[in-house]
Order: sequence, then C-alpha cells, then structure tokens
Amino acid sequence: MRREADAMMTNAQATPDAGGTDCFLSLRGVTKRFGGLHALDDVSLDIRRGEVLGLLGDNGAGKTTLVKIIAGVYQPTSGEILCNGMVERITSPDRAHHLGIETVFQDLALVPNLAVADNFFIGREMTYDIVPGLIRILRKRKMETDAAETLKQLDIHIPSLRVNVDSLSGGQRQAIAIARAMRWKANLVILDEPTAALSVPEQNKVLELARKLARQGVAVIYITHNMNDVMAVTDRIALLYRGRLAGELLTRQTNQNEIVSMIMSGKPPASAQRA
Ligand SMILES: Nc1ncnc2c1ncn2[C@@H]1O[C@H](COP(=O)(O)OP(=O)(O)O)[C@@H](O)[C@H]1O
Ligand SMILES: [Mg+2]
Repeated sequence: MRREADAMMTNAQATPDAGGTDCFLSLRGVTKRFGGLHALDDVSLDIRRGEVLGLLGDNGAGKTTLVKIIAGVYQPTSGEILCNGMVERITSPDRAHHLGIETVFQDLALVPNLAVADNFFIGREMTYDIVPGLIRILRKRKMETDAAETLKQLDIHIPSLRVNVDSLSGGQRQAIAIARAMRWKANLVILDEPTAALSVPEQNKVLELARKLARQGVAVIYITHNMNDVMAVTDRIALLYRGRLAGELLTRQTNQNEIVSMIMSGKPPASAQRA
C-alpha cells in the first residue's frame, strides 16, 4: 500500500518536457555493434535531472550495453552523447566519474573485506602529508565522520562503520553503494537490478533511496524486471527491444499489463501512440 501511495505521489511530480534545461545527458543515434550484431541501433534518449527513468527490455535487448556506454566502459560504434548540452566523449570509467556518472552494478563494486567507511573512499582516500612527498597517512577518523554524515543524511542505519562490508545484509550493502554515489556528488546514478536479491523491507529502502536521489535533483536510471518496482519508483519508462528504442512512456499514463506486453512485443500501447 505504502509503495502505491509513494508511486502516486512521486509520479505526479514527473516533468514530461522533452530535452530542455532538465536534460543532463542526451544520446543521439547511438549504435553499438559487436561484429555483425547490433546490440544498440540508433538509440536517441534524454536523461533528465530529478527523474527516475526505468530502462526496460527483455534479456538481450541492449540495456547493459547502453549503461556501459554511458559509464565509459564501451565506446559507441556511431552516434554521439551530449552532457549538459555539449558533445562529450565518455572514453573511460574515470571520465564518467569526472562527469558525475556513478553506476551501482548488481555486484555493487564494494570491497567485501574492507570496512564500510573505507569503501566510501576507495581510490579517493583522504590523506595527510606528515612529511610532504615522503610520509602520508590516511585520515581514518575524518573518513568515518564523513561517511557517517552521508549515511545520516540518507537515513541509512548501519550499526558500525568499522565492520567489514561482507558482514552486512544485501540491502545494507546496496544502500551503502547508493550513499557512496551521493557522497561523490553524482549527477546521474545508474542502478542495475538493485533489488533483485533483497528482502521486501530492503527493497522498499532501495526504492526510497532512488526517489530521494531524484528529489535531490539527481538523474536516475533504474533497470529492473520487477513491475512493482517500475510502478513504484519510475517517472518515465524507456523500452529497448532488440537494440532499438521501442517506446517512451510516462509511468503514470500506463499500467503493468501494458508495460509487460510492450516488453514482449516491442510495440508501445495504442494509447501511447496516440499521445
Ligand atoms: N561484449 C560483447 N560481445 C559480443 N556481444 C555482446 C557483448 N555484450 C553484449 N552482447 C550482445 O549484445 C546484445 C545486448 O546485450 P545486453 O546489452 O547485455 O542486453 P540486456 O542487458 O538488455 O540483457 C545481446 O545479444 C548480447 O549477447
Ligand atoms: Mg543486462
């Protein structure tokens, strides 16, 4: 019930204007070929600030390929990407991070045998030079305070930031990965099947965090096969079918049955074609 109420509230706030100043990233005619296979074929899609975009499609439709292009893992074969209206080549994951694009993969990319606080700062550790250029120490206490502050802001409760991540539940780990994306001031957070392995209360927490990111003005791409999640968390849906963008819909203007048949057939519902 609560999820339905949330969905009604949040979806009502969706902004349907195409392009415009809300647009963080624009894909223009993006194509990706692996040998003779078109994993993505001429995909044009806007990704907007403050919006949760559901990226849907059957297995093999091209979702992960699209995400990897945005995350700088793959280069498109043709087409271009605009970031804040400027043509941008996302040539590496580092470049994506620099642009504020954070991807929370299903396996999360947390380091299991490191403490929560340390995971927040992998590759971006806070240090202090005792002897400049010679002796550098980690600012452990500062990193812990910083991580604690981020988790508090997102209302995430972790008993201790000194415990290793592998002692936490799946939901807690997912929450930490999302919080870490927030900590680094993400402009776009991509969540790839974030609730697949979680209990229902944990799933609700992750959905709540995705909404919270959007309310803070972050663009969110949410990949899922779970129709309840789609209805509860997304503002808009982009459907991939055999590498092509088969339709875009506002979530509040559709329903689960329409979405499922769209995923299977690759055709948007008649109501959307009229819109
Ligand atoms: N690295 C790769 N090399 C060759 N083919 C690939 C590669 N990655 C994906 N594909 C193919 O591209 C298509 C789209 O895959 P993918 O993006 O993983 O789909 P989805 O995430 O929607 O299930 C599939 O046919 C898949 O087999
Ligand atoms: Mg995939």
